[in-house]
Amino acid sequence: MRVIAVANQKGGVGKTTTTFNLGHGLAKRNHKVLLIDLDPQRSLTIQVKLGNQEKNTTTNIFEKSEIIPTYVDGVSIIPATRRLSGIEMTLSNVLGREFILKEAIEKIAKDFDYTIIDCPPNLGILTINALIAAGEVLIPTELDQYSLQGIVDLTETIEKIKKLYNHNILIVGILPFRVNPRRLISKVFLDSIEKLYPGRLCQSQIRVDVSLIEAVGYGRNIFDYQPESHGAQDYDALTVEISERKYV
Ligand SMILES: Nc1ncnc2c1ncn2[C@@H]1O[C@H](COP(=O)(O)OP(=O)(O)O)[C@@H](O)[C@H]1O
Ligand SMILES: [Mg+2]
Repeated sequence: MRVIAVANQKGGVGKTTTTFNLGHGLAKRNHKVLLIDLDPQRSLTIQVKLGNQEKNTTTNIFEKSEIIPTYVDGVSIIPATRRLSGIEMTLSNVLGREFILKEAIEKIAKDFDYTIIDCPPNLGILTINALIAAGEVLIPTELDQYSLQGIVDLTETIEKIKKLYNHNILIVGILPFRVNPRRLISKVFLDSIEKLYPGRLCQSQIRVDVSLIEAVGYGRNIFDYQPESHGAQDYDALTVEISERKYV
């Protein structure tokens, strides 16, 4: 099983949209997929209409080491609850708190080909749990100066985790999100990313697309909602790229 953390401490850069649609893209190509909502804001959970579920949630993982997925429409999901935001405090004195998610996921590894983790917009203990549980991290980003600085901060955290925990995590891709192909300045940022992180930039890009905004609103994946849209084409390309990615 491959475990991919979708992380970026900035909000609104496409983590949830990417977790959801990459997950469905992989499921449509006959992979068994588990999605984990690790964000107390619960966008993924609300999208799949599990907002009222109190059992079998990510909060349970941290409180009881219990991991029970709920099957929704082609993928399995572990939704979040609001109480997840208090977990940081609850865990502050728990020894080995960084490894709780990893140990839980290992219990059900045989049931899935891919686990994709939707991270919260910060580098706290939940994101650290995700990075330690994952073998790979996918970093969606917009193309501007602040976002570039955000990637630098995130990759520094990843390097620290690698050293501190002797954990080998690979950046599987940096994914340009909400790209306007006509905006020339985008090219400058693409070049900067390629220079800073050679070979890490995804070939695929997620273009600006109103269908994706609508699909989120209706709680539907882009392939079912608008199969001809740019969003569906872009997420299908990403699905193929991620599933075929060979590492260097
Ligand atoms: N291709 C797109 N073009 C424009 N807006 C998009 C696109 N895809 C998603 N969005 C919108 O961007 C917002 C932020 O995306 P989201 O995935 O929730 O980011 P994050 O999880 O990083 O906070 C969503 O509300 C969604 O409506
Ligand atoms: Mg999100």
